[in-house]
Amino acid sequence: MNKKTVISMVVLTMMSALPTWAWKGDIVVSTPKTSLVLHANEGGSLRFSYFGEKLTSNEISQLKGTSMDLNQAAYPAFGQHDMLDLPAIQVLHADGQWTLYPTVDDVTTQTEGNATVTTITMTDKQYPVTLKVFYKAYSTVDMIETWTEISHREKKAITLKRYDSGHLAIPQGNLYMIHMHGNWNSETYPTCEPINPGLKVIRNTDGVRNAHNDAPEMMLSLDGKPQENKGRVIGAALCWSGNYELRVNNSSDNRYAHFYAGIDPQTTEYILEPKEVFTTPKLAFTLSNEGMSGVSRNFHRWARYEGWLHQGDQTRKILLNSWEGVYFDINEEGMFQMMEDIKSMGGELFVMDDGWFGDKYQRNDDVTTLGDWMVDKKKLPNGVASLVKKAKSLGIEFGIWIEPESSNTKSEFFEKHPDWVLQEKNRDLKLGRGGTQMLLDLCNPKVQDFVFRVVDDLMTENPEIYYIKWDANCALQNFGSNYLPANKQSHLYIEYHRGLIKTLQRIRAKYPKLVIQCCSSGGGRVNYGLLPYFEEFWTSDNNDPYQRVFIQWGTSYFFPSNAMAQHIAHSPYWNTGRTTPIKYRTDVAMSGRLGMELQPRKMTDEEREQSRRAINDYKPLRELIQLGNLYRLISPYDNEGIASLMYTNDAKSKAVLFAYRVQYLYNMKTPRIHLAGLDATKNYRLRELNVKVGSEPSPLNNKVFSGKLLMEQGLYLPLLKDYNSCVFELTAE
Ligand code: DGJ
Repeated sequence: MNKKTVISMVVLTMMSALPTWAWKGDIVVSTPKTSLVLHANEGGSLRFSYFGEKLTSNEISQLKGTSMDLNQAAYPAFGQHDMLDLPAIQVLHADGQWTLYPTVDDVTTQTEGNATVTTITMTDKQYPVTLKVFYKAYSTVDMIETWTEISHREKKAITLKRYDSGHLAIPQGNLYMIHMHGNWNSETYPTCEPINPGLKVIRNTDGVRNAHNDAPEMMLSLDGKPQENKGRVIGAALCWSGNYELRVNNSSDNRYAHFYAGIDPQTTEYILEPKEVFTTPKLAFTLSNEGMSGVSRNFHRWARYEGWLHQGDQTRKILLNSWEGVYFDINEEGMFQMMEDIKSMGGELFVMDDGWFGDKYQRNDDVTTLGDWMVDKKKLPNGVASLVKKAKSLGIEFGIWIEPESSNTKSEFFEKHPDWVLQEKNRDLKLGRGGTQMLLDLCNPKVQDFVFRVVDDLMTENPEIYYIKWDANCALQNFGSNYLPANKQSHLYIEYHRGLIKTLQRIRAKYPKLVIQCCSSGGGRVNYGLLPYFEEFWTSDNNDPYQRVFIQWGTSYFFPSNAMAQHIAHSPYWNTGRTTPIKYRTDVAMSGRLGMELQPRKMTDEEREQSRRAINDYKPLRELIQLGNLYRLISPYDNEGIASLMYTNDAKSKAVLFAYRVQYLYNMKTPRIHLAGLDATKNYRLRELNVKVGSEPSPLNNKVFSGKLLMEQGLYLPLLKDYNSCVFELTAE
């Protein structure tokens, strides 16, 4: 054991009293308000003792030898694991043996930025397999990341059958789980259910868009049905952009439930060569006693300030994106017009979406041309340069859409490189969007280079491009790579993402300031596997403000508001047919990264004026909304007729409150909104924002209430018509 070894020596008498799990030493992983306690007897297995509110060293010693200590396997290995539980790791050795008995050799700690990394090294004494289990605990936020490195020195390759990122043991109680479910245009609907007996598996196998249906995050409430601002809740996010499996096992023992998360093993059997090191993705987890909103705030802080969202501590600009305004109908005059319009409403950035590229084939719909990233000179005779110049002359920024991981069967790219798309040997290609779309083989370094150059060429030719919208509209549906060897075809789902991440890292090294949106048919790639390389994501292709209240609600569980692109759209909305007032549309978009997604020329005067007002009122509050502390107050899912949320600054001197009517029946009960996160002793002046054009501000405008009244008595907001909404700024006096 080296100097940094943290396994303390144990009292010999205790060892003899408790021979199977005698305390050799505690491993205490600490964040400001939580402790994770593990223990290991040297030569024994690693045990999970406690995860909860921070303990003193005296309390940690009180756990010992009692049922307070959960004493569960911390990273259960098949064979060694408690037989009724599930393993977190399972390997097939070269000789056909398939058990693993890792025991602890060494525990070290080291400081890394704002965190302490604890490394527990374990080996199997019969088979030379080494596991390094890591816990990285932040001193700035209650967040711990865990992951595992697997390596071996067997003579031949071993097969990883299961290789979770992490496992948590949870004492039984009135446990609930909250996970996200949805689909294209209806992402992130939180589903809350009691943790009943049995095994619950949340899984995604799209290969590319891992957040459209289910999401790789989960909350676990320890104190019954979860509440937004009270109660102990664990939140966990698997930081991976590919297939995954989250498991909640409640079948083994009536004293514990277990949570596991990792890459989906059924779609990837990994052949690990001698001396190769396999590193699992990270699993980030937190515990808050301030309910689900507390968990969200921890994730938001961690993402913004600890590198999990690119330029996470920065605010974002107000933009107009061309897609729902003109779709593929791109031309120079039209783009100039949209730029002038967004500028006239106070916007700061214009983004040209799909349809601008192609030489031999024109991109007028979604069935051709992906891969041909040269400007369409028939549509844009003066190239991208003239658009950048025009934006500059207006004093706004310019952005552009790409979908660099895909091609269409009708494209110059595919004619030149038919072997650069994913395909199965001896089988026909399966085709995605438009019946013609295919995914490039990002396992291949030459293809990675091609994707890098899509960005690099654009940026080299037009260094003033400020923003890129990076889209991905195709699932991984051809299970074969021409690049991977025959015996490693089963690595495809992992190698694709490794290739993607390598490419993104290269782009980020060269273009650290470029703002890149992670779009994937809307919210398909909202995950912490990719966000370290992106400034924001397209929350959903669904811009109907009413449904957005629901979608944005669930998205905010794990993702911060400066990452959530929220755009004002046309009404009636194309996919729901719903007609909504412009006031509602602007109020809904204002609660995150504000933008627009429409043809300004089709707007009425009232719509323009309301949008101008929203943008104008948003700008001075941008920092508070985009970087503030989120408190969700009334959930749209709770059928109370109202949804409401707010942001505060750290000093609690400023806040902004949003409230939306989500159902109205005459004379239905209207709940008071109990604000949260304020200073009870301060007085706050209310100012109504984005006042409806043609109306007077609410009678609450300019009124002063104490934080205590706002939080305890609650505000009654008479939103007494369908699609009524309001936004208030609160300033402490
Ligand atoms: C899907 C995206 O989500 C949309 O916003 C738009 O960019 C289209 N792709 C373009 O094809």
